[in-house]
Amino acid sequence: MALVDLRWHARALLAQARWRRTRSAIAQWLAQAPGGFDDLLLFGASAGWMMDDAFLGRFRRIDAIDFEWAASPLFRLRHAGVIVSRRIRVTFHRVEALDNLEHLLALRPQALVLFDNVLGQYTLTCRDIERAERTLSDLQRRLRGRSWGSIHDALSGPGERLPVHAQPEPVMLPAGTPWPEDPLLAQVGGRGTWGDHLTRKVLPASAASTLIPWQLTPGYWHWLQAGWVTR
Ligand SMILES: C[S@@+](CC[C@H](N)C(=O)[O-])C[C@H]1O[C@@H](n2cnc3c(N)ncnc32)[C@H](O)[C@@H]1O
Repeated sequence: MALVDLRWHARALLAQARWRRTRSAIAQWLAQAPGGFDDLLLFGASAGWMMDDAFLGRFRRIDAIDFEWAASPLFRLRHAGVIVSRRIRVTFHRVEALDNLEHLLALRPQALVLFDNVLGQYTLTCRDIERAERTLSDLQRRLRGRSWGSIHDALSGPGERLPVHAQPEPVMLPAGTPWPEDPLLAQVGGRGTWGDHLTRKVLPASAASTLIPWQLTPGYWHWLQAGWVTR
């Protein structure tokens, strides 16, 4: 676990224009979150580079989880406007998310739970593919009784460099439908080898979801899957 992931923060800072449509698609998805919650448990907060202030403004208290040291100061700085104006109490927990899941859930039993672009990295941080797959597909059980959502990497790989106006639209995926892999890759001119982030079983088959294109770097794409599960 890095103290500061300079590469990620520098990339995110410089990519804000290229990521504009992705951030706006994420904001639209966040706006569909189940209502009636004052508390948010936010896993993988980072600096909130893709996070929407209007969503944060719905909560009185946010417990953010990120094992990177710089996440807390950068998140507070980037979202200072809404944190101060809405007097949101923000607490950061610098721990590994999934090893500590039950403890964190118990800390805020009334909170909405959001995995914010973190579960798709689990195969990298866990470094044991079989364990990662088992852990990711067991999350639904561990979250039983809670309202939760996740936006996570589904597939990633090289494709065409597309200007913002030519980036594809999000794809709605009805409950129980498998990812339409070939059409997703075709929309971004996918070629070469693509990675599968093993997140297929994160959301229950009963949850509809949205697939959101994200041109992480020019010509390198992620398709993110985003869905909510209501208690
Ligand atoms: C892709 S970034 C998240 C982007 C973020 N939601 C945003 O809007 O900027 C993933 C973040 O999750 C953190 N992270 C990844 N795996 C984690 C884990 N297993 N436990 C805790 N934090 C983790 C990383 O340090 C990183 O800050």
